[in-house]
Amino acid sequence: MLRTVGQSVRRREAVEKVTGRAVYVDDMKVENCLFGKTVRSTVPRGRIKEIRFGQGFPWHEFVIVLPQDIPGRNAVSLIDTDQPFLACGEIKHVAEPLALIAHPDRHLAEKALNHIQVDVEELPAILTIEEALRGDNLQYGDDNIFKSYVIQSGDPAEQWNRADLILEETYFTGAQEHLYIETQGMIAQAEPGKGVTVWGSLQCPFYVQKALAPLFGLHPDQVRVIQMETGGGFGGKEEYPNLIGGHAALLSWKAGGRPVKMIYDRREDMLATPKRHPCRTWIKAGFRKDGTLIALDIDFLLDGGAYPTLSSVVLSRGILHSWGPYRCDCSRARARCVMTNSVPYGAMRGFGAPQSIFAMEMHMSRAADRLGIDPADLRRRNFLHKGDRMPTGQIIREDLDLEMMLDRALAKSDYRRKRRDFEQASRADGHKRKGIGISCFYHGSGFTGAGEVFLASKLSMRLTQRGGVEVLAANVEYGQGTRTVLTQIASEACGIPPEWIDVHQPDTSEVPNSGPTVASRTTMIVGKLVERAGKQICERLISAGYLPEKHRPDDFREAALRFLREKGELGVTVEYEPPPDIHWDEDTYRGDAYSAYAWCCDVAEVELDPIDYTARVDRFVSVVECGRVVNPLLAAGQIEGGIVQAIGFALYEDVVLRRGAMANNQHANYVIPTTADTPEIDVEFVEFPYANYGPFHAKGIGELPMDGPAPAIASAVAQALGGRLINEIPLLPERIMNAVQPDITAPYFRPSRAPNLDVVTRGLADSPPATLCTPLRGLTPATGERSAPEARQKVAPGESASPGLPAPERESPGRATEMYIRNACTGQVEPRRSKTPSAHGRRRMISFVVNGKPCSVTVHPMKRLLDVLREDLELPGTKEGCGEGECGACTAIMDGLLVCTCMIPICQAAGKKITTIEGLACGDALHPMQQAFCERGGLQCGICTPGMVVVAAYYLEHPDEAASLREALAGNQCRCTGYASILESVKAAQANEKPADQERHGSLSS
Ligand code: FES
Ligand code: FES
Repeated sequence: MLRTVGQSVRRREAVEKVTGRAVYVDDMKVENCLFGKTVRSTVPRGRIKEIRFGQGFPWHEFVIVLPQDIPGRNAVSLIDTDQPFLACGEIKHVAEPLALIAHPDRHLAEKALNHIQVDVEELPAILTIEEALRGDNLQYGDDNIFKSYVIQSGDPAEQWNRADLILEETYFTGAQEHLYIETQGMIAQAEPGKGVTVWGSLQCPFYVQKALAPLFGLHPDQVRVIQMETGGGFGGKEEYPNLIGGHAALLSWKAGGRPVKMIYDRREDMLATPKRHPCRTWIKAGFRKDGTLIALDIDFLLDGGAYPTLSSVVLSRGILHSWGPYRCDCSRARARCVMTNSVPYGAMRGFGAPQSIFAMEMHMSRAADRLGIDPADLRRRNFLHKGDRMPTGQIIREDLDLEMMLDRALAKSDYRRKRRDFEQASRADGHKRKGIGISCFYHGSGFTGAGEVFLASKLSMRLTQRGGVEVLAANVEYGQGTRTVLTQIASEACGIPPEWIDVHQPDTSEVPNSGPTVASRTTMIVGKLVERAGKQICERLISAGYLPEKHRPDDFREAALRFLREKGELGVTVEYEPPPDIHWDEDTYRGDAYSAYAWCCDVAEVELDPIDYTARVDRFVSVVECGRVVNPLLAAGQIEGGIVQAIGFALYEDVVLRRGAMANNQHANYVIPTTADTPEIDVEFVEFPYANYGPFHAKGIGELPMDGPAPAIASAVAQALGGRLINEIPLLPERIMNAVQPDITAPYFRPSRAPNLDVVTRGLADSPPATLCTPLRGLTPATGERSAPEARQKVAPGESASPGLPAPERESPGRATEMYIRNACTGQVEPRRSKTPSAHGRRRMISFVVNGKPCSVTVHPMKRLLDVLREDLELPGTKEGCGEGECGACTAIMDGLLVCTCMIPICQAAGKKITTIEGLACGDALHPMQQAFCERGGLQCGICTPGMVVVAAYYLEHPDEAASLREALAGNQCRCTGYASILESVKAAQANEKPADQERHGSLSS
């Protein structure tokens, strides 16, 4: 029998991604297209009095959509329907969409926003959880609470007087930005009588269909949604595509069916789209002297923002993970999500669990400290076992051995010895201090409670003319490996090689609704449907006498082709069937919350600099149980990527809120880990195969790695600080410093958690948010050339690198095209450089050589090289992630130097030789670096991959130019992989011979 499940099968779309041929939404060439823009509010709450379109601007050339132009219902259909597509009357948050405009010239469309004035009567806003709970400014129901749950098991109140230790603390986690490298984008074509079609970067095609049908008063079948290659999502493209898809479609509808493209730039994306919910968790726990947990009381609060969107389900998952993998017979967990006038918060990897797990795991570490028990031993004493009951009443029926997992993690990390050594070292002065911390946790696979039954997902499979099968599902590939994993499951179910499997592009007009691509459900729930469909296809061929019971791949092919010839098409559709022993009561919130759980033990080792209070993770060990591992290479990539995102959550990623919106809404001002900040990550899988309800015994994996690293890291920092646990993340240097020296408050530092979630620094309050003034990492500003990667400077938004001095004006290629925008937070008009000058400007013919071919373009001399490559030369392999010279997605080689093409005006490229990703491969022969990325899994969503491969290929030919590999790649950011597989790929390519084919037209140094 052919075995492919359990093998590290190569990613299906790897070659397209490493060569730049994969088509993302902004790469789609659309004839006669308009470019859409959104007019947004600048106040957190107010009444719209008038929208005025300035005099002397060619408005007759524009398509304009106001709320009154909406043909159907002005409400996004999700769980509730109270979020409008365009605010009508009342504004509820900064950056709320008020009107839409579109024009054939992208730059003129952007410029037009400066000529629109919105008169608003500002109203008092709620900006914090505390203000919402106070109830003196009621905006939602009679308590400003979107949703609440209470889950009780026994009565903790009866246990407090039996406890030897009662510990009560409050923990805080901040918002987190997804920072998918591909920003939100949609293309729409909509016409009365013909219906609506949208193409986009999205996770849930049927969500978009459900949202758009009532917007136009159409039947869902008249709305077609097609997912394009998607450059990361992490939950951020779960529900927001409903809104931007609706906007693009409204413009197209008004334009009589002319296609409209809406692609957010980085600033707009960070300002207007949802983030991880800020959270406050209070925990009271009672322990016996020996560490036994006897009572638990939890109060879990989320800031939901201005509209409910997905908050109720995020809240639900958060509370259902709040008590950790511990047995406690007397517990009460209360969860509430409040309404504030913030940009609505939404789904992000982990979906509420990282917040609640942070609190519980920190509490366990604190209790261990107070009881004088090692944190590992305290956890071990309280672990859940098979047969134990969780607070919802769910009995653990599957095999579980958390002790063994913890032992593996402790042994791999050398935890005991290091904990002892670091303890002693932390008493010495003047040295870098080290600490080690642990966390243990679980993640429920699939939708909560009866969610999967309610969804009733369907999936189809049919024979193909190649003698294989095609899988038809709505679940999308956005880096996590859906296409490959579903292929492997189909391959094993049918007994044919993976190459004979096709996976249909998610397109609502072609595939059944197999549910959204969220909640760690794709492998377990959808994969099971694939397995069942594959087996049914085989059974049909067997019962028709075409296929023997025991068959080889060639038998299947022969049978399939003969069946198609003689009988016509063969396809099956299967529907979700819940495991028979799973029961959930939605009213009492009791029962089996999830049909299966994945489990994990993490150990983090950190180093703390006692001079500047920066912490970095040196080593990370993760022992993971997720049932049968379908593809070890992809699974390890998922774990590593999630861990690095969680390192950002724990240490670096600080969403600075002003008036309920992200003030540091620039890639340069929101710090995520790079290769230089990423530790060695050691992942080990243990398998407790999941009965019969996961495909070949597999469970979900995607969100688990995001859930637990933060408390392990924070506990390690605490050890480095001599036992001082800090209750709030991210652990920015100023937060650590304030914990150590609470009397010192540096002028530009934010204080530790105060009740007000909207605390801003003095520096921020006095300066405009999110300017373009921060120094650029790895760039020589005047030229856009990448300098040797430098240590990053953490500069607060709008702040000068030298406090007290005005922020430096950057001499840059874009100065000539300066224009003004209205800042969404302050309402102030500020200078802003256009990405590229208007097409109406002065043009010049400029000649250069690209990938060995001479080219000439007649464009404005300040047009960005990136735009010339993508628009004029139709080379869309070079991507835009930030437009700020920060992410490296746009990297190419110009006259032997690495450059960020988003920072180069085309006039600087005159007479130069440029190599882009399209120039690396020679026909079908991949460059050795591309080959290594494919084979070692150095890519996931692929949006950073062209830039990353170009840089790596450059250093393959110039190995002496960077001190280390990590330093060489530090200017290129990847949000998916956690870099481990990228570094592996580069090392593998370096270990081979230099590329033999020096005749290749893309010779890098030419
Ligand atoms: S697009 Fe991010 S560096 Fe150019
Ligand atoms: S950002 Fe997705 S693979 Fe790097």
